[in-house]
Amino acid sequence: MSGTGIQVSGLAKRFAGVDAVSDVTFGARPGRVTGFLGPNGAGKSTTLRMLLGLTLPDAGTALIGGAWYRELDDPSGTVGAVLDIAAAHPGMTARGHLRTYAALGGHETSNAERVAELTGISAYLDRRVGSFSTGMRQRLSLATALLGDPDVLVLDEPSNGLDPAGIVWLRTFLREFAADGRTVLLSSHVLTELQHAVDDLVLIDRGHVAWEGPLAEFTAHGTSLEEAFLRLTSGAASPTAPAASGATRTEGVHA
Ligand SMILES: Nc1ncnc2c1ncn2[C@@H]1O[C@H](COP(=O)(O)OP(=O)(O)OP(=O)(O)O)[C@@H](O)[C@H]1O
Ligand SMILES: [Mg+2]
Repeated sequence: MSGTGIQVSGLAKRFAGVDAVSDVTFGARPGRVTGFLGPNGAGKSTTLRMLLGLTLPDAGTALIGGAWYRELDDPSGTVGAVLDIAAAHPGMTARGHLRTYAALGGHETSNAERVAELTGISAYLDRRVGSFSTGMRQRLSLATALLGDPDVLVLDEPSNGLDPAGIVWLRTFLREFAADGRTVLLSSHVLTELQHAVDDLVLIDRGHVAWEGPLAEFTAHGTSLEEAFLRLTSGAASPTAPAASGATRTEGVHA
């Protein structure tokens, strides 16, 4: 399938004695929502920061459409990312914030209204960001990521702060984005959050990919998502853990 995918290979990062990411290899394909699931401290954010050129890897490659982030001709028109909740100036209105970021990315300022519409914050455009709730900030962050109409979205724990209606809205939004032939990679440490949101799953544990494949294969053989998650992240091999065809089970492969 054509489109802009993500390919991470042999990625590693060590911080002052801590192996944050040891050997991470996975892909996220166009037309699909890929969940990047793992317990706290597994290495999700570090991996995503390396993918987005914010942290320098010690080894490996992290490519978007075959290129490093820093090599992209039009970064914000290729990949939109939400790693932290909007660091917007609290005194600025949402419209001012979005117009500023549109201009910084080299996009028409009228994109501010377009992305506000997409993320359901049109009614709040003239409110100061400082008065926004956490959920509204999440939407503003996503709106900012969409300013360049990117082919790829990378989101780190995007459901934090969203109420149940917001979570359903985000899931629907991401599904539609992917259905358009685009690529979505979103991380979470909450497996139930990804259960209805993703097509493919990459499970990361202690800096290694423990499992990668279609979500349907993860829960094959009557294994619940929770059982599979706990088995694969405890390091213990299990006869009932998923290892079906079409999926790649990689735990134990890495040193
Ligand atoms: N800048 C840093 N300096 C030192 N250690 C770091 C740094 N960033 C991350 N780490 C360590 O690397 C490991 C992986 O952290 P990371 O933030 O990537 O995990 P995570 O999977 O995103 O976790 P969470 O679910 O809590 O967000 C942790 O042990 C963390 O303490
Ligand atoms: Mg994190």
